[in-house]
Amino acid sequence: MKILAVGDIVGEAGLDTLSALLRRVKREHGIDFTVVNGENAAGVGLTPKQADEMLAAGADVLTLGNHTWGKRQIVPYLDDSPYILRPANYAPQAPGRGAAVFDGPQASRILVVNLIGRCDMQFGPDNPFLCADRVLAEYAGQYDIALCDFHANATSEKIAMGYYLDGRVSAIWGTHTHVQTADERINPKGSGYITDIGMTGPIISVLGVCPEQSIAMFRGDLTEYFKTAPGDCALSGAVFEISMDGKCRSVRRVWERYAR
Ligand code: FE2
Repeated sequence: MKILAVGDIVGEAGLDTLSALLRRVKREHGIDFTVVNGENAAGVGLTPKQADEMLAAGADVLTLGNHTWGKRQIVPYLDDSPYILRPANYAPQAPGRGAAVFDGPQASRILVVNLIGRCDMQFGPDNPFLCADRVLAEYAGQYDIALCDFHANATSEKIAMGYYLDGRVSAIWGTHTHVQTADERINPKGSGYITDIGMTGPIISVLGVCPEQSIAMFRGDLTEYFKTAPGDCALSGAVFEISMDGKCRSVRRVWERYAR
């Protein structure tokens, strides 16, 4: 089966890009199941309406990250919708869930796990490595293949998680840093891996933000709220081809321009 992971949707521009391109990309690659990271749809966080739009665009599951709580109106949605995950290593009292089993092609059962890193990020989340162990043990026997979106900042933490889960999940990809890395590969025990699948948003931008605003921040000038940059966008992601024994057969980067 073919899994498409789509990188962080940034702002309304990213949402428009997803809505315009996702069905064509899925058709062209013969995609069976799509996971979209949606935590930046509102810049910081996402609203229930934006989550609905991403699902309507063709996402099967939405994953999140450090901006999960950026728009508080998403809180009841996290409990109500079965198609959205927040990091599994958040505190147990946090709303929503961090992993779930979804219907895949040919009656397959797909476990999707969302984790967040701690290296150069918030200190609150639980250890993502030990959390991954717990989640895989909890769902043992209830899934055919497992996928993991690791929303993390440090390349070292992502690469280490890639090897830690090698052979235990069919594919693991990084999100959060918004720049697609060129290290897509199959790890030694058969898991598809890429350090970051990139973002879905404006091409001429600093991680989605207007360059002038980002430069002003780095210069130490007074800045306003960050705005999503104008201009053409790109949908970034990766396609993992997985056989029914759970091994990944190929990983391909996806980068599609959307003229605006
Ligand atoms: Fe993030």
